[in-house]
Amino acid sequence: MSEHTPASKVLDRVLVLEMVRVTEAAAISASKLVGRGDEKAADAAAVEAMRKAFDELYMDGTVVIGEGERDEAPMLFIGEKVGGAPGKGPRIDIALDPLEGTTITAKAGPNALAVLAAAEEGGLLNAPDVYMDKIAVGPGYPKDVISLEKSATENVKAVAAAKGVEPGDIIVCVLDRPRHADLIEELRGLGCGVVLIGDGDVAGVIATTDENTNIDIYMGSGGAPEGVLAAAALRCVGGQFNGRLLFRNDDERSRARKWGIEDLNRIYKLEDLAKGDCIFAATGVTDGSLLDGVKHFKNGKLTTESVVMRASSGTVRWIKGEHTI
Ligand code: FBP
Repeated sequence: MSEHTPASKVLDRVLVLEMVRVTEAAAISASKLVGRGDEKAADAAAVEAMRKAFDELYMDGTVVIGEGERDEAPMLFIGEKVGGAPGKGPRIDIALDPLEGTTITAKAGPNALAVLAAAEEGGLLNAPDVYMDKIAVGPGYPKDVISLEKSATENVKAVAAAKGVEPGDIIVCVLDRPRHADLIEELRGLGCGVVLIGDGDVAGVIATTDENTNIDIYMGSGGAPEGVLAAAALRCVGGQFNGRLLFRNDDERSRARKWGIEDLNRIYKLEDLAKGDCIFAATGVTDGSLLDGVKHFKNGKLTTESVVMRASSGTVRWIKGEHTI
């Protein structure tokens, strides 16, 4: 018989809150490099701190979405074992982004996060590091109100009808990229408000779940790993998501096949990206729509703001931390 603790039991009782220590550690380290113009150094600081913090957790974790493949990332690479109880603790799959928004951090912009998702073994899509076309809405809409099979216009009209407003009242969040020029024109042609973000589409997708942001829909392409992380959050708080992997060349296609993805045109919904019980945890590095960033005070004191959610209960915990370094 296996000596491993059943993952579901431990996801419930211990790991949910413990995961925040991991994102806090990454955010605190990265925060020391906010505005310093060095993406790589900020990312490296977050990676190292997150790697170390994982060792404190009683789990037998495997990174399924991480900093890259073994030959390109020294730490937190895909397949790396993390956690302080290898061979003994619960087997947990982890998707992580120690610093979601490296450029944001370098430029001291909004919405940089340290973020991770955890699920029972096999619960998270092993997404290759390619682009993903994404569309998301928050909770409270009829099933399948959005779909990547439909045009942007059709999706806006469907969401507007369900919300009881005109298409021109709908606010859409889009990454500000030249590749989205046609999409932005189409949305503005409908009279929609378009919130352009410089980076950070995990926060962009999650913004649809918070009425205070005014954002109704997230649309456009961004990283596939970030799609899985955002989907884990939506599994916990509700909402809908469609994602389709986008491949620029054969190398990307073969990388996807290597991770077991056969249907390269598949549209993934929430349960396809993060299934079963899962946890999403994030700590703000810079101030943003989801969380405040790390604040540094006199005498080495600092504060963090984090959120941790669990899919099976729908519990969302907002955690303010005061730390003395
Ligand atoms: P990094 O933290 O790796 O810089 O990612 C930031 C980000 O904006 C993601 O949120 C988003 O999914 C992706 O980059 C978009 O990629 P690109 O900058 O190539 O459009």
